[in-house]
Amino acid sequence: MKIGIIIVAAGRGERAGSPQDGPKQYRLIGGEPVIRHTLRPFLGWRCCGPVVTVIHPDDRALFDAAVDGLDMSQSIRTTFGGASRQQSVLAGLKALEAEGLTHVMIHDAARPFIDHALLDRIADAFKEGHDAVLPAMAVTDTLKRASADGTVEATVSRAGLYAAQTPQSFAFTAILAAHEKAVDLGHHDFTDDASIAEWAGIPVHLVQGSPDNIKLTIGRDITMADEKLNQALPDVRTGNGYDVHQLVPGDGVTLCGVFMPHDQRLSGHSDADVALHALTDALLATCGAGDIGDHFPPTDPQWKGAASRIFLAHAAEIVRARGGIITNADISLIAEVPKIAPHRDAMRQNMADILGIALDRCSVKATTNEKIGFIGRKEGIAAIATATVIYGMLKP
Ligand code: CTP
Ligand code: MG
Repeated sequence: MKIGIIIVAAGRGERAGSPQDGPKQYRLIGGEPVIRHTLRPFLGWRCCGPVVTVIHPDDRALFDAAVDGLDMSQSIRTTFGGASRQQSVLAGLKALEAEGLTHVMIHDAARPFIDHALLDRIADAFKEGHDAVLPAMAVTDTLKRASADGTVEATVSRAGLYAAQTPQSFAFTAILAAHEKAVDLGHHDFTDDASIAEWAGIPVHLVQGSPDNIKLTIGRDITMADEKLNQALPDVRTGNGYDVHQLVPGDGVTLCGVFMPHDQRLSGHSDADVALHALTDALLATCGAGDIGDHFPPTDPQWKGAASRIFLAHAAEIVRARGGIITNADISLIAEVPKIAPHRDAMRQNMADILGIALDRCSVKATTNEKIGFIGRKEGIAAIATATVIYGMLKP
């Protein structure tokens, strides 16, 4: 099976209005021209053969700009279309005549939401031996026929009615012959290719279309397509951090910037505040900014005995400089001694002050290690931290 693709893009898009914005197939949706969205799934489809885009002679520059840099864009050929869609399709068929194709898919440039599953359904129908395949959706609205005075003349049963989509797909020689015969006999008013096949007596097989595969026809269709592609998600990122420091004889420990008198101290280059170190790493992790050691090397004498709030404030600055909004900071302390609970609120307040966020976005929890291991033996204190940061909006 060798399947060629025709994208018809020579229309003027009169029903879309706003002629100053140019033909609809070159207008931007989701930041890219409609036709670029349309071509991309075809170019990436495993059964895609030669592609011909049928353009209007006035649109050469628009087309070239629209496909610039698109993967596989070098394999797209162009030809000029005619005054009607039917003529444009025939021009595309002629352009593919020498390719030895078994089949061809004829698709509207104005349908940018095609997907591989639909293309596969059509290819499967080819394999089953169908020479004409029409993707279509069962009509869901109740249908009315209006009389000339604008009142309803009748309700039309929708049973068995389908709305035709594209790509309408055919055995190549059969559809080319049907198109040529239609022109020879003076039939110029077919609005799709399936109706030419029907007229030529080729049975047209229906396959399930796709509800997304709408044709952008009126201005609102284009706005809605743009809105759909621009639906953004908040770029929420979570980072974690872990730190541990050794307890040695001393007069107290500093955790989350709160000094607690105790007969031990935490050993380290700075003030050894494991809690703020873990949280600093968690913040840096939300933007891939390395870890605390990258920013404050323990070998650097300027950080000797430094208050760890400096490290956390610096990480918060990095996050903010990258557009991040800190929404949550959480620390779990694992310490057999000293007792943390009486100091928790002061610790949370320190976090809130350093990070510049509300108190209810800051949390400190503590647990002992049930006398097990180095923490249980009061040889050290560990901290685990989690930070959540929103970095603007993320486009799907
Ligand atoms: N088309 C074409 N050549 C024409 C007319 C239409 O290649 N002479 C293409 C359009 O570019 C579009 C597809 O056929 O991709 C479906 O046609 P339609 O939605 O009717 O587009 P337009 O003809 O451009 O729009 P309108 O009818 O509102 O002017
Ligand atoms: Mg038209």
